[in-house]
Amino acid sequence: MVNKAPLSTAGAVLLAAFAAGAQVNAPEPASVPHLEKRGNATQLMVDGRPYLALAAELANSASSNLEYLEPYWSRLVASHVNTVLVAVSWELIEPEPGKFDFSLVDGVIHDARKHNLRLMLLWFGSWKNSMSTYAPTWVKKDTKQYPLLVDENGHNLNMMSVFYEANWKADANAYRALMRHVREVDGKDQTVLMMQIENEVGIRGTFRDHAPEAEKALNGPVPKELMDYLAKNRDSLIPEIRKQWADNGNKTSGTWRGVFGSDRRGDGIFMSWYYARYMDQVAAAGKAEYPIPTFVNAALGDWVGQYSSGAALADTLNIWQAAAPHIDILTPCIYRPVFSEWAALFHRAGNPFFIPETRPDPGYAVWAFGRHDLIGFSPFAYERSADGNTPLARAYDVLGQLAPLILEGQSKGTIGAAVLVPDTQSESVELGGYTFEIKRGRGPGAPPANQQAPGRAGAQAGVQQAAGGRGQTGVPPEQGTFASSTGYAMFISTGPDEFVIMGSGAQITFRPHAPGPKTASIATLEEGRYVDSRWVPGRRLNGDDTSLEYSLGEQAKLNQSGQGLRFGNDPSIVHLTIYRY
Ligand code: DGJ
Repeated sequence: MVNKAPLSTAGAVLLAAFAAGAQVNAPEPASVPHLEKRGNATQLMVDGRPYLALAAELANSASSNLEYLEPYWSRLVASHVNTVLVAVSWELIEPEPGKFDFSLVDGVIHDARKHNLRLMLLWFGSWKNSMSTYAPTWVKKDTKQYPLLVDENGHNLNMMSVFYEANWKADANAYRALMRHVREVDGKDQTVLMMQIENEVGIRGTFRDHAPEAEKALNGPVPKELMDYLAKNRDSLIPEIRKQWADNGNKTSGTWRGVFGSDRRGDGIFMSWYYARYMDQVAAAGKAEYPIPTFVNAALGDWVGQYSSGAALADTLNIWQAAAPHIDILTPCIYRPVFSEWAALFHRAGNPFFIPETRPDPGYAVWAFGRHDLIGFSPFAYERSADGNTPLARAYDVLGQLAPLILEGQSKGTIGAAVLVPDTQSESVELGGYTFEIKRGRGPGAPPANQQAPGRAGAQAGVQQAAGGRGQTGVPPEQGTFASSTGYAMFISTGPDEFVIMGSGAQITFRPHAPGPKTASIATLEEGRYVDSRWVPGRRLNGDDTSLEYSLGEQAKLNQSGQGLRFGNDPSIVHLTIYRY
């Protein structure tokens, strides 16, 4: 699903097709935004270089009126956002069949360029949050031509059925026109970097479609492509799919219910395949015009949950991968606990990691960039709260300075990160021969010591959980509230005994875990900023700014020197060199 460096065969074929069909403003194929596997990480390549998307998604209706949107652009810029996720609505671009109006798209591209921002467009086509509210009225009104999903009571629900060719063809036709237009107006400047197909698809209110074509498909054979995929990837399947297949006899052919069972998981696999096929046809139509990376997003739940049967859920990753080769990333919208567990569930099975929607929490952003090779982080409806002083804006400022180092660290595996939440006592990161221990800060702006609650260390974010380790679905519990982070740190190893560290609300000690003298301490510690990738030093830190403990005898028993790093609430960067004794 990812263009390997320099390009997979599929990618090369697409690009060749694209080059052949290119008209106005056609870019050189090599410069089209694309995903590339670089060392350990899959990264988004823009202008021939890896790109870190410090993004924000606009509220749903914001891009339906340029005048409404106007004041928000500069606020996003002040917030150090570099990429904006913007909805494009089917009903607004194709008000009558075959008659397209791209004035809003053009306006958004124009205004983004004016503010030096990049875009990702969200195609609100057949479905937005399961429902078909963004389809044009001429589609909505003609349910005979464009059939809806039918529930077990025979009721039409407001969701276009995935089982009818007319539905995906109408959607794909509009999406193809959109992508042709994007190529024509933006192929050279490449303001638009990636596309999202539909938005949080999946069924609500019932578990599978009962429309006549759906019944026919359910009683038909599992397509050979899926059976072949499962057989070929048997050893690397995610545990959820492997188990569901095994529980039903590991059959290599049969009807859907014969192969995957007739419980909700079995029906979930059936619906996932058909949603993914539908959306793959839409993605393919768009990529034939302009092959930039394409993702889908998912509201988090599990496949036996109340809604989203058929969605691109963590449980059904393999089904989507098999069904949708034109979709490059399956992404989570993380509003629910536990952030780290959702990250681990989506960043597996070769799926690159991108978060199109979440809360504007800087700790999770830093953690995911440093721990999970994250391509981009994007809080939802952020334009409403964006200004240069939000905690996320201050973190984006620093992340922007560090972006080249972060991207290099991701590809070389020389980066690590930790995030602290209210019930975390400490986290640890192993990197470059040292173990760093990160605790709640006691520096300026840190919470008082009596608010430093003890708790289940590592439970929220610092420790990557083995996927599938929580029973059959591998999905975290539904209960609980999303815990805001209280501090964070990111570590980049830049040479032997040398690190660049960014942090906020944290205090950090370290000890060696490589052979040699048992205690490590600070040789030099310098704060500073990166200006155009050049380090501009600030204060040299020592004394009260680095002495964390004075009971040196006690510290020696712990292989500690008493020296360490303090980060106040304002995120900052330090250069650290270490010596041992
Ligand atoms: C998730 C959806 O994807 C967004 O478009 C928006 O509806 C938010 N939920 C609202 O919280």
